[in-house]
Amino acid sequence: MPAKTAPHDVAGGPPAEAVTPLIRGIAVLRRLTEADGTLSPGALERATGLARSTVDRITATLARMGYVRLDGRDVVLTPGVMRLGNAYLAALRLPALLAARADALADELDESVSLAVGDLDGVRFIHQATRRRAMSVSFRIGDLLPAERTAPGPLFAAEWTEADRQRWRSRRAKDPEDTSFPAVPPRAAAAADDFEERVERARRDGWALDDQLIEPGLVAVSAPVREPGTGRTACVASVVSHTSRHSAADLRAALLPRLRTAVAAMEADLREAAPPQPGPPPSGLATWTTASKHELGREFIESLARGLTVLTAFGEGRSALTLAEVARATGLARATARRALITYEHLGLVAPAADRTFTLTPRVLGLGFPPLSRTTLPSLAEPHLRALADQVHEPTALAVLAPGTAAAADAEIQYTAGAGAGRVLTVDIAVGARLPAASTSLGRVLLADASGPLPPALAEVRAQGYALVDQELESGLRSIAVPVRDRAGRVVAALNVATHPARRTLEDCVHDLLPALRTTADHLQTDLHTASRFTRVPPT
Ligand code: PHB
Repeated sequence: MPAKTAPHDVAGGPPAEAVTPLIRGIAVLRRLTEADGTLSPGALERATGLARSTVDRITATLARMGYVRLDGRDVVLTPGVMRLGNAYLAALRLPALLAARADALADELDESVSLAVGDLDGVRFIHQATRRRAMSVSFRIGDLLPAERTAPGPLFAAEWTEADRQRWRSRRAKDPEDTSFPAVPPRAAAAADDFEERVERARRDGWALDDQLIEPGLVAVSAPVREPGTGRTACVASVVSHTSRHSAADLRAALLPRLRTAVAAMEADLREAAPPQPGPPPSGLATWTTASKHELGREFIESLARGLTVLTAFGEGRSALTLAEVARATGLARATARRALITYEHLGLVAPAADRTFTLTPRVLGLGFPPLSRTTLPSLAEPHLRALADQVHEPTALAVLAPGTAAAADAEIQYTAGAGAGRVLTVDIAVGARLPAASTSLGRVLLADASGPLPPALAEVRAQGYALVDQELESGLRSIAVPVRDRAGRVVAALNVATHPARRTLEDCVHDLLPALRTTADHLQTDLHTASRFTRVPPT
């Protein structure tokens, strides 16, 4: 497969002060993102044009940072990489302020609703409220679409400068099949030749349609959400459907008025929003990179790690930072921070703004976000369960309260993920299987999070933070479980290790297995909290 090199990736050669390892590391993250999150080192070598030894050192550095893991022979993006996109989305603030309105509109209309921002001559999603249907739209947060094949595109293009229009024309000429937009099917010949007319209409009407420009059957209607004060388009809200539910004309007649009502409420929310609350800047990053360099030596590319920390210096209330603020937040020397910012500006990931500040661009979402934005709790858990099973040589599992049974006296748990330990005598429970909650360690941990008074056994589980069950379900089965909590602190799943009385005493379970379980639960929670900051992570 030929490498997809986006013609808008890089305009001209890098400036003399740009940091080459940072450019290469970003290229690796972009190629992994375009490949939906997984590539072999050989494929990465071909896609980036870098030497194998360079690819290996970059992936070792990214692995150390928690952005990729090595899974057998493959390099795989991990949920940690979403910290980069989260920094952009938090700094932008629009998802935090508007997502609830978009979700409510999707519920009201029973159609998918999205929020998108303009990204040069493209449109990039910052929120998706997707209906779960057999026939549903599959765009993800962070996906980039060519402006001319969308409903939001003409609304953004109505504010383009002549330089923007020039960029759009040259991209269309250079990339006639839209190969630089991996999220969309190839463009049909001569499609979207009426873009300039659609832009004129969008400017006049204040709304725009997509009548099957991406794919036959897919229709959308969009309206701009305007920034208070400037009146510029902050983002565009869209209602998306398919032609067996609504024709494009129908969408406009039936749903545009309700979309506009929701947009008016969004604009009011933006006007009335309290000033952003700056979180603490990430701390100790420079110390961490120095320690990693000592530990990993040649395999760790410190300039790449240092450069990447610059992106996470941005966030809520930290959307426009001066060079001095970036240096302070990261602990990097001013000269190092400056070269990283120059590199990012060249790559289109950072833009200079007013008052000598810098902001992140939507392009930051192209660094790993889309492949991870549709993840589930079981898929987040799998590598952690595998690692735990390998460490303790016992089978591990993840479970939730089975839907609909939670409050009942005969509540059940449902297994959602597991990893075996390669033993002869092992627990043989399939994903999806159900067991009575009251007699399993997993179930007791889940039941112990209920509100209100608890029976003494569950109160004890809650107080000690684990449940140990000895041969109650079945003779010979001993298991210990701990809770997995969401960002709000609610228990959303339980994680256990099962063993046999001949292998471990009850004391062994508490002294050996519990610390390993807790560490695993911490790692899983970190991933869950990162992944669920701006996307919904289903528990099953
Ligand atoms: C989407 O949200 O998936 C969407 C929005 C606008 C389009 C197409 C798809 O034109």
